Amino acid sequence: MARHTMLSCFLPRACSPLFCLWAVVLPVVSLNSLNHHEHQDHRPKLLLVSFDGFRWDYIDRVPTPNFRRIMDSGVKVEFVENVYITKTYPNHYSMVTGLYAETHGIVANEMYDPTLNLSFSTEADSLYESRWWEEAVPLWVTVQKDGGRSGAAMWPGSDVKIHGMFPTRYLQYNASMSFEYRVERIIEWFSAPEEEAVDFGVLYWEEPDESGHNLGPQSPLMDAIIAGIDEKLGFLMDELKKAGLYEEVNLIVTSDHGMAQLSPEKIIELDEYVDRELYTWVDKSPVVGILPREGKLDEVFGLLVDANPNMLAYKKEDVPLRFHYQHNTRIMPILLEAKEGWTIMQNRSGPFMLGNHGYDNTLRSMQPVFVARGPAFRQNYVKTSMRSVDLYPLMCHILSTRPLPNNGSLLNIQDLLSSQPAASTPTAAHPPSPPKLNRVPG
Ligand SMILES: *[C@@H]1O[C@H](CO)[C@@H](O)[C@H](O)[C@H]1NC(C)=O
Ligand SMILES: *[C@@H]1O[C@H](CO)[C@@H](O)[C@H](O)[C@H]1NC(C)=O
Ligand SMILES: *[C@@H]1O[C@H](CO)[C@@H](O)[C@H](O)[C@H]1NC(C)=O
Ligand SMILES: *[C@@H]1O[C@H](CO)[C@@H](O)[C@H](O)[C@H]1NC(C)=O
Ligand SMILES: [Zn+2]
Repeated sequence: MARHTMLSCFLPRACSPLFCLWAVVLPVVSLNSLNHHEHQDHRPKLLLVSFDGFRWDYIDRVPTPNFRRIMDSGVKVEFVENVYITKTYPNHYSMVTGLYAETHGIVANEMYDPTLNLSFSTEADSLYESRWWEEAVPLWVTVQKDGGRSGAAMWPGSDVKIHGMFPTRYLQYNASMSFEYRVERIIEWFSAPEEEAVDFGVLYWEEPDESGHNLGPQSPLMDAIIAGIDEKLGFLMDELKKAGLYEEVNLIVTSDHGMAQLSPEKIIELDEYVDRELYTWVDKSPVVGILPREGKLDEVFGLLVDANPNMLAYKKEDVPLRFHYQHNTRIMPILLEAKEGWTIMQNRSGPFMLGNHGYDNTLRSMQPVFVARGPAFRQNYVKTSMRSVDLYPLMCHILSTRPLPNNGSLLNIQDLLSSQPAASTPTAAHPPSPPKLNRVPG
């Protein structure tokens, strides 16, 4: 891709990237109407990091000096409302699309699509079938279509071909690859020669989710796991510094969801209420998709609706609107939702975990951490609340990439930025997507 050094934009860090864009866009547009991004040598850089299952309050549980360092020199959001269901795949895809699960189509970790008559599981090859992912376009694809480059160290979906593209640089998912190895690749991609360097990076780590499931979040053994994540964050920060990227890269550290404590005393056994022959069990606890046998919907629903005081049963069309979890064929006709801390099983013989997530996204225990720093962000600023879908328009803004239609709102979240977009956004040439004020902000 031709990149015109003539129009390069060397800016002091205090200058907003969009002001830079403003300065560049006008002459380019008036000269030849080409896409301004092809003429931008120094795109702002952004690295999005997810520590799976890092609950919002873990940072206050043990000393986490590296999280503190980011907050002191950047921002923190206290309440992050993620998307329903509060599982790993739906939420990671929401972060990079700005869409609720019903719209991006990754509605659960385990799915059945009745139109395709196919099943999806994050533990099977179906994970790599593009069609499951193509109801949305992840940010790395949009950045690349826009002339930029992206690098993915194992974000869910990032090793799948989506709308014909992989990230420019990416790692095939391999749980055995160390955090340090993943960080080294990301650093390598960010610090490549200018015409190869990535602008947008995503980095994923499986912990503390795995330990949270096994030990339960209340276990004192979780303290060491959380301290270990803080050390890993410290490693990432050190490597960014060594590569001279720490002041240049906008770093967002967040997670997909929190974790609730379970108990073997709190098990709901479906076999007590309904014959297994009457339905197919699609997704796992605590939000279970139930596909009744042909013609058995009302019978199965009738057996489940008041079956257990710790379990809610919804017909798909009655799922509360605030969940934004109805409008997709991959959402099953009946949805069972356990109350916080409860586990739904068919009988007790299956594997049991001490921690889980997936519950109502307004439960505090389900919510993730959110901190960020870098030239685009304010310093030492604490914001009360955001929705995780707002992250997408924020990232598009930072990357000077035009967002696709989404469920987020830059307006709700722009106070995190060091310079407010309104003052410098070239609205005539690039109108921002209209804010969706369908919820009282703050
Ligand atoms: C769905 O696929 C299964 C095989 O996985 C097959 O047995 C079944 O007949 C198919 N159902 C329909 C309605 O096509
Ligand atoms: C996964 O990573 C481990 C550790 O680096 C390596 O030994 C193994 O060969 C990798 N597996 C695959 C399939 O690449
Ligand atoms: C529980 O379910 C499993 C299959 O998931 C079955 O093999 C087992 O017999 C059941 N146990 C009881 C006590 O019904
Ligand atoms: C979310 O955004 C998509 C794309 O603009 C739109 O189709 C959908 O209706 C939105 N959902 C809600 C609940 O507003
Ligand atoms: Zn998990």
